[in-house]
Amino acid sequence: MPRRRKIYEGKAKVLFEGPEPGTIVQHFKDDVTAFNNQKHDIITGKGVLNNRISEYLMMRLGEVGIPTHFVRRLNMREQLVREVEIIPVEVVVRNVAAGSICKRFGLEEGSSLPRSIVEYYYKSDDLGDPLISEEHITAFGWASPAEIDDMLSLSLRINDFLTGLFLGIGLRLIDFKLEYGRLYQDDQVRVVLADEITPDGCRLWDTETNEIMDKDRFRRDLGGVAEAYQEVARRLGITPEAGQQDIKGPVTIQ
Ligand code: TMP
Ligand code: ASP
Repeated sequence: MPRRRKIYEGKAKVLFEGPEPGTIVQHFKDDVTAFNNQKHDIITGKGVLNNRISEYLMMRLGEVGIPTHFVRRLNMREQLVREVEIIPVEVVVRNVAAGSICKRFGLEEGSSLPRSIVEYYYKSDDLGDPLISEEHITAFGWASPAEIDDMLSLSLRINDFLTGLFLGIGLRLIDFKLEYGRLYQDDQVRVVLADEITPDGCRLWDTETNEIMDKDRFRRDLGGVAEAYQEVARRLGITPEAGQQDIKGPVTIQ
């Protein structure tokens, strides 16, 4: 592997300098964490599956006019993306009550919400990603009012599209988290979808059985994490083409 500069290492991905200016290589690791890194494990093959799932979803979203950072998949674990300035706001869209909203408002898991709810969290591992309002975002300068508008309208369009896409393969999109970035291009700046869309940052339940097909399997020690991600990929029609032998353990990278 050619030597390349590591820009950032997160919990589930590593970012390297890309081959051309303005590009980044996003490398998906097999590491899985929960509860802000308090729980950690390696799920062999997860990085390969997430690379493929995120590629597929970003491409489909691109086809319906959602601007994204995605350029192309490079290999089993890596994709080329445009370099963006990540907006430090995590946008969560919820269609059904699950996870932290149940605790916060005393809701029963699986109960329906009056409508889809969009929440913002401040992206800070040190602070445990606290829930924030638009007031905090603008007052602290994390994003402008126009950028919040863009993130909100894009997130609702993404929710509509993904809800339908997953329903078509027998999965309910319960909730998910998105991240956005500023893309600087020709003296202009625009907000584009960044990071990843994978079962690490979504809740997906089987429409027939309510079986959990996402990272909650890890959070709740249900087992079968890789099998669930594999099943999501299979239903999307994108099982890694080279087959199981390419789903190897973690590779050491410089
Ligand atoms: P929550 O119910 O724990 O707030 O999570 C809502 C959704 O956001 C769920 O699909 C998981 C995702 N999520 C992340 O991707 N990263 C995070 O750090 C958190 C807290 C949630
Ligand atoms: N993404 C956070 C972590 O990896 C929290 C979570 O997903 O539960 O620690």
